Amino acid sequence: MTPTTTNHHTPILYMGPIRGGTDHIYRNTFADHFDGYDLAVAPFINCIGTNKIRRKYVKGLLPENNTGMPVIPQILSKSAEGFVLLANYLTDMGYDTINWNIGCPYPQVARKQRGSGLLPHTDKIRQFLDTAIPKLHGDLTIKTRLGREHKDELFTLIPVFNEYPVKEIIIHPRTGKQMYEGIPDVEAFETCLSMCKHPVVYNGDIRTADDFYRLSGRFPTITRWMIGRWALVDPYLPMVIKTGKESTTNKIEKMKTFHDDLYNQYTRVLHGPSHIIDRMKGLMMSFSLAFKENKKALKKIKKARTPEQYEAVVHHFFDEEAVWKY
Ligand SMILES: Cc1cc2nc3c(=O)[nH]c(=O)nc-3n(C[C@H](O)[C@H](O)[C@H](O)COP(=O)(O)O)c2cc1C
Repeated sequence: MTPTTTNHHTPILYMGPIRGGTDHIYRNTFADHFDGYDLAVAPFINCIGTNKIRRKYVKGLLPENNTGMPVIPQILSKSAEGFVLLANYLTDMGYDTINWNIGCPYPQVARKQRGSGLLPHTDKIRQFLDTAIPKLHGDLTIKTRLGREHKDELFTLIPVFNEYPVKEIIIHPRTGKQMYEGIPDVEAFETCLSMCKHPVVYNGDIRTADDFYRLSGRFPTITRWMIGRWALVDPYLPMVIKTGKESTTNKIEKMKTFHDDLYNQYTRVLHGPSHIIDRMKGLMMSFSLAFKENKKALKKIKKARTPEQYEAVVHHFFDEEAVWKY
């Protein structure tokens, strides 16, 4: 692994939003154990129309719950009015930038013309920006894909974005229909980049430092990069990318300590052992991908029913079985 890039900027790395993965507990705990990320975009919250917003609704975004790293809240909405209400509420809480999610690929979201479902509707996006932007108290960034069905949907939209004071555009170069299948279309990303007047953040399939160096060599003007799933698998990745150095010794031990800290934090905030175990099992499904020969251990972890069983199988895995893949 060598940084063969001609891109000499120190990359600015964003923790990608993974709903059910990168919540505030995870973000804070990550920052206590690992370096490398400069900021996080939080998983989306839904806009709730013109209903009164209660603090409880934005609990995961309360500044006192987000001390680990700078955060940009994200809202999923097709209604400019609802978006503005929620965004300004968050700005009043101290966030100067809010991200608009028009990339979510899930059919139940997209069918309602939200997330990537909005991408074929240039006129609706224009209306949204026309209404929302003058009323927003803070800055707006956008997270998007190439389109819902076709990549040229974003080619049509970028000239629209160019007309508005959008702070940056985060592009995951797949269509919504693709979900997470196939290879990110870097040619289409390149076209978007050449068309876009706003700063662009690249996002998609940075699994290793070599992936990053390949991409940053190809896109020397990009300074901002978002990593989602693959740092949830290998939390050392952002730091390795930043420093160009293969990380640290005792990786497995440190991973176990990170796991245990997460477990303790979730035990404090989640109610009932099954919620805690389910949350941790979800994280372990990601973590386990960083290890070789993990199938047997995973099976046992999935079967655990009580905290005691869960702790025993996970500790056995980290202490006796885990072999780091990277
Ligand atoms: C389970 C899951 C949940 C996600 N939740 C969000 C979300 O709340 N908001 C968002 O903008 N993207 C979300 N994403 C997309 C990721 O942020 C990212 O764009 C995508 O995974 C591609 O980047 P990666 O290859 O670095 O993971 C989610 C992805 C997954 C797999």
